[in-house]
Amino acid sequence: MFGKSKIPVLNAPQVPTRSTEDSQSPGVPQSPSAGKQPPALKPIAPKAPPKRKGDSRDRSDEFYELKTNIHRKLVENLDLAAMGTRTDDDVKDEVKQVIMDLCEQEDALLNFSERQRLVSEILDETFGLGPLETLLNDPHISDILINGPKQVYVERKGRLQISNVRFKDDAHLMHVIDKIVSSVGRRCDEVSPMVDARLKDGSRVNAVIPPLAIDGPSMSIRRFGADPITWDDYINFNSITPEMVDFLRACVAAQMNILIVGGTGSGKTTLLNNLSSFIPDTDRIVTIEDAAELQLRQPHVVRLESRPPNIEGKGRVAIRDLLINSLRMRPDRLVVGECRGAETLDMLQAMNTGHDGSMTTIHANSVRDAVQRVETMVMMAGFELPVKAIRQQFANAIHLIVNAARLSGGPRKIMSIAEVQGMEGETVTIQEIFKFEQLGIDGSGKAYGQFLATGLRPSFFDRLKYSGVELSPELFERRVLLTDNKE
Ligand SMILES: Nc1ncnc2c1ncn2[C@@H]1O[C@H](COP(=O)(O)OP(=O)(O)OP(=O)(O)O)[C@@H](O)[C@H]1O
Ligand SMILES: [Mg+2]
Repeated sequence: MFGKSKIPVLNAPQVPTRSTEDSQSPGVPQSPSAGKQPPALKPIAPKAPPKRKGDSRDRSDEFYELKTNIHRKLVENLDLAAMGTRTDDDVKDEVKQVIMDLCEQEDALLNFSERQRLVSEILDETFGLGPLETLLNDPHISDILINGPKQVYVERKGRLQISNVRFKDDAHLMHVIDKIVSSVGRRCDEVSPMVDARLKDGSRVNAVIPPLAIDGPSMSIRRFGADPITWDDYINFNSITPEMVDFLRACVAAQMNILIVGGTGSGKTTLLNNLSSFIPDTDRIVTIEDAAELQLRQPHVVRLESRPPNIEGKGRVAIRDLLINSLRMRPDRLVVGECRGAETLDMLQAMNTGHDGSMTTIHANSVRDAVQRVETMVMMAGFELPVKAIRQQFANAIHLIVNAARLSGGPRKIMSIAEVQGMEGETVTIQEIFKFEQLGIDGSGKAYGQFLATGLRPSFFDRLKYSGVELSPELFERRVLLTDNKE
């Protein structure tokens, strides 16, 4: 269908190329018109990454060289005009054939599996995110942490481990970062060396490049979407018990305002996503996030995402702006990804003024810590409110606090489900209804323990009944609900 040397390729890289030397580095695709475009991004100071633990050269230099040669020939022969309206799959098949032909021409001494690897790596470079593609295709990987081109960690089932994926060099890694951030209309260069972005599947990406990242470009990807964690997973992983899930379901149905608290990576967003799944289909939901991670299945959802300032420092739309605007959108439920600044007080006020059934998360290590964190965030945002007034807002707004945690060795647990009862003097009174008690660390280094019902019945028990949610009072009887098996 095509002349031998004219190859249709759909996504010639959209990012501007760097210096000729950079763009010719192995594995870095080059636009057909690269030579004509002025380099818009300054090359990053090439710096040999220091040798680190985990460095090993598992790919031979010849393999890289061959890959680069074939890739360059492929790109040199791109014929964008010939692309026409064919589907990605058709184009991919044709490009694959051309790569195999080029491979033959190179007269390379490759065995069958090496040839296959070469073809699939060149296809990944051309159509996808290069070496990252293998990791992105593995549904069990929840986090990908890239510390420079030669050190890539992944998290599987709560355990962090080094992977054998490598990038050729800083320029190759930078190219992949550019490809990701430019696809969401952002940029990552010396002027804005720190950027948040999102992959097509919803995974959250953060990249920091030199000079801020000292040892080369670094990127953290929080997978989302490939294999989202459901309530069944929570129960299979012993992260919660069915009794606790029943209680949470009732609280969401009865329009309780819920605050999720936890440390970094403790599972706050995952929990928020799962709690939101209990919101009835009839409610109008507005979600507000910095990087859209929530995956709500309800039909009536408006999703809003904040925006960082542009290169001139203009155009910023903060979570707070979206929150204030959302109040005019007649939401039944507000779901805010995370409160970490001035929006905290607005969220409390929204919850206090008729937006019941709303939910958000904050970064705090325990239920008790949550009150203090909220006080600090409100004060740091410059609101001159006495501490007691902030606490009063908190106590009136929040009905339930749920604490998520990642314990030693990886297990994630719902550590506490607690009711905010009100104020006694200057103090917010909180009572735990369910909790996890850690008993120790097992032979494999994993924390283990037991879930307990504390014996306290929530004071809003009657409100649950009036909202049509029937819960048996026995659910709250003091007992051990589940004990972990030791490994
Ligand atoms: N109960 C669980 N069991 C196993 N893995 C979980 C569980 N909950 C969450 N995870 C995984 O833990 C990782 C972190 O989850 P999540 O993004 O929800 O955390 P977070 O507290 O919102 O993080 P951050 O502070 O970075 O926003 C994700 O990869 C998620 O799939
Ligand atoms: Mg989160």
